[in-house]
Amino acid sequence: MTATDVSRLLAQYQKQINERLAFYFDKKIEEASRISNYTREVVANAKEYTLRGGKRLRPIFCIYGYKCLSDTNSEAIIEAAISLELMQSSLLVHDDIMDEDELRRGKQTFHIVCKAMCERQFGKNKSHRFGENIAIVAGDLLEAYGEEVLAKSSFKSEYVKKALAKYAEIVKNVGYGQILDITAERKGSFTEDEILMIHKLKTASYTIEGPLHIGALLAGAKEADLQILSDYGIPLGLAFQIQDDILGLFGSEEKMGKPVGSDIREGKKTLLILHALERCTEDEKEFIAKALGNERVTVEEIDAVRDIVRKTGSLDYSKKLVGEMTDKAVQAIKPSDFRTEAKDSLINIADFIGNREY
Ligand code: IPE
Ligand code: IPE
Ligand code: MG
Ligand code: MG
Repeated sequence: MTATDVSRLLAQYQKQINERLAFYFDKKIEEASRISNYTREVVANAKEYTLRGGKRLRPIFCIYGYKCLSDTNSEAIIEAAISLELMQSSLLVHDDIMDEDELRRGKQTFHIVCKAMCERQFGKNKSHRFGENIAIVAGDLLEAYGEEVLAKSSFKSEYVKKALAKYAEIVKNVGYGQILDITAERKGSFTEDEILMIHKLKTASYTIEGPLHIGALLAGAKEADLQILSDYGIPLGLAFQIQDDILGLFGSEEKMGKPVGSDIREGKKTLLILHALERCTEDEKEFIAKALGNERVTVEEIDAVRDIVRKTGSLDYSKKLVGEMTDKAVQAIKPSDFRTEAKDSLINIADFIGNREY
């Protein structure tokens, strides 16, 4: 399977997922419009935000987790899988408030959209606070929508119950991971193990391992099946986040649809920074420390940090780790007796993730 084949495969699922998301949101807009015009407008914004872009990796992993074990009910699993994209929207809306980012999927973040909504209807007074308040609630709604979709899915109730428990576990993991991520920004020293622990909780759990598990549980997975999916999903999830950090510093804002370099402004503790700090001169160390978490950091200063990350071999180290973890994921799933079509697709998606540019 070539890279183009993987893109085609993803595009085919993206289309079906988007159709179902649009249909679901239209029902929610109707529900909200029975309450008030304001609630309708917020839900309509949530629809636009969810459908404006995104790779749909989480629902796709859910579908493949299911397909590893079953080839029936292909419509029902796509419907259940949209719960993970609703969870993704919820987490991204909240994450962008916390990170004070203004760009997501190439457009304004949700709280900025709501800030503009405030200014149009009520004026500029405390409009930023208003935007964030509405976005916090919208994030909660989106999470509840995800639960609702899953709870109402047509699979055996015994399987749905397990999938819902997994949904809650994923949201909890992300919460714990985000707490560590936020506190790490304030801590002076940090280790590679701490960073990988944050990546595991904050990203791997909700991006790959968790969605695979939900899909597999809806097909009646056993503990041994879940273990193989974890052995694939965790290293691949770590690779996904490390690649995200690489793209967050060296990628293209246009392709990524989110700000490049903002990790420096936010003071995010990435592996790129950790390894650069361990290998650079004292002057460079001081320079990075000043740039990290500095709200007024300039483009030139971010460029200088990039140079240090390159020069110390830290960029190559992170790239090497992405490669190794992707291989580890592939090796974990290869010998399994999962259905061949699903297994092959998961191997190819791992490749896509290891080489992605957006
Ligand atoms: C962004 O996830 C959040 C991270 C965990 C890094 P994606 O890169 O999957 O974002 P979309 O859904 O494609 O926009
Ligand atoms: C996002 O984390 C992960 C979530 C839990 C939503 P980041 O803050 O690292 O990701 P981006 O760069 O904003 O997508
Ligand atoms: Mg963020
Ligand atoms: Mg964040």
